[in-house]
Amino acid sequence: MSEESFEELIPRMAAYMDERFGDHDEALQRALSDSREAGLSEIQVSPSEGRLLRLLADTTGAERILEIGTLGGYSTIHLARALPADGYLLTLEVDDNAAEVARKNLQRAGLSDRVEVRLGDATGLLEEMDDDPPFDFTFIDADKQGYPDYLRHALRLSRPGSLILADNTLRSGRVIEPQNEMAEAISRFNDLVSADDRLSTALIPTLREGIDGLTVSRVR
Ligand code: SAH
Ligand code: DHB
Ligand code: MG
Repeated sequence: MSEESFEELIPRMAAYMDERFGDHDEALQRALSDSREAGLSEIQVSPSEGRLLRLLADTTGAERILEIGTLGGYSTIHLARALPADGYLLTLEVDDNAAEVARKNLQRAGLSDRVEVRLGDATGLLEEMDDDPPFDFTFIDADKQGYPDYLRHALRLSRPGSLILADNTLRSGRVIEPQNEMAEAISRFNDLVSADDRLSTALIPTLREGIDGLTVSRVR
């Protein structure tokens, strides 16, 4: 163990956490394998991150959840499992292939009755939303360049006490001195949430192939 480099340890620690603190039932496994078969990129949350999302949504008693970036619906399944039977989750996805895979995965998981997969560019779809009741919980996980804009909409669509989460907010440290547009936008997002008096925010480091992070903001 002491011979091992930190780089080698990260995926082993991730596997350790995911085995013990992640869900691996049939619906989630099939969601992953069907997403892979359909050619979707394998950038979904980890099993332990999925557990954390569900736990936080559960703890806050979320009845209305907004997700920005669906992919094959893997994180959507975790989140929707926190909902009561009459709860509602709206997830936004620009890729029609991904949206179709997600709808099938949600159907198989028995969650279609409470989840709407809405196809389109998230910015456009969010701009159209103005008389919806507030969301209790928002998960931002689409294109990273959009994060600052998604935050603005998430705040607009929240109420005091709502949670706003964002995935990929540490990027193995690339947010510290950003060298590309993606890292630059996330770095700006982190600056925005940390400086915003309307929010109380923590950044939770997460493990996948490398170290990443999840910001959790509570609307005051
Ligand atoms: N939340 C998913 C992973 C999402 S990956 C999970 O953890 O299981 C990011 C997704 O955002 C991709 O499916 C991508 O097609 C979608 N996306 C990228 N840009 C978008 C945009 N402008 N509007 C809506 N969705 C977008
Ligand atoms: C990427 C996007 C994600 O949402 C993620 O969780 C990991 C990687 C990416 O675009 O590289
Ligand atoms: Mg992500």
